[in-house]
Amino acid sequence: MTSYKPLIKTGIILFLILIMLSCKGTKKDKGWEYFPDMAYTGDHPDAAVYEAYDPNSNFKDGKTSRRPVKGTIPRGYTPDNFPDRGSISVKLKNGKYSMNFATMDDAKKKEDAEKAGRELTNPVPITDKVLERGKRLYTRNCAVCHGIQGKGKGRVQVGAIDLTSDKIKSYPSGRLYYVITKGNLTMPTYASQVSTNDRWKIVHYLEKEIIK
Ligand code: HEC
Repeated sequence: MTSYKPLIKTGIILFLILIMLSCKGTKKDKGWEYFPDMAYTGDHPDAAVYEAYDPNSNFKDGKTSRRPVKGTIPRGYTPDNFPDRGSISVKLKNGKYSMNFATMDDAKKKEDAEKAGRELTNPVPITDKVLERGKRLYTRNCAVCHGIQGKGKGRVQVGAIDLTSDKIKSYPSGRLYYVITKGNLTMPTYASQVSTNDRWKIVHYLEKEIIK
């Protein structure tokens, strides 16, 4: 009977020698490499891919990550015809803080808010699931200032108003949506945290359960 044992032994020894040989090399030269194009990224001569933060000599600014093309619309974002209102920033200069209001003037803010009330309607059909989602989003994003019941008694006291007041009762859906999207006087915009559809869901929840 032929024994394969010596053959297997020789095979294993040859394989081990091969592995040892591939280890030879200095710290800079790594010896033999398996799939070098996967081991390196960026501008390395053996690289086949660029990762997000790799330097990249193909572009003038030397970066791999590119800015979105002008006019790119993020997923879940619906463009509207209302300009953003600018921002309020805080600066520290010589040990003193100063507020910098780079926002549109109050008359224009009011005009846009009223226009949104006339022009925008809620595109999301109202269902139990939508209301549940609206409640969740309200609790997460709004209740901290406006309170769980909307009475303006949230944990953070920044003068958030009572959302059950007659003034807010008179607001059409589009205006409520507008406030969440653009912010109001000191209230910040929630456009970057809450998607377009989710904002409309908050509006449903406000109208059905908070403002009533
Ligand atoms: C950081 C605190 C804060 C959070 C969070 C907040 N608000 Fe406000 N909100 C305010 C303040 C303060 C006012 C009153 C001053 C103003 O109108 O800017 C206000 C005003 C409002 C008004 C009335 C605007 C008007 O025309 O008088 C509405 C409606 C409103 N908020 C809805 C919301 C909704 C919905 C959310 C959640 C998406 C929310 N707010 C989150 C602080 C907040």
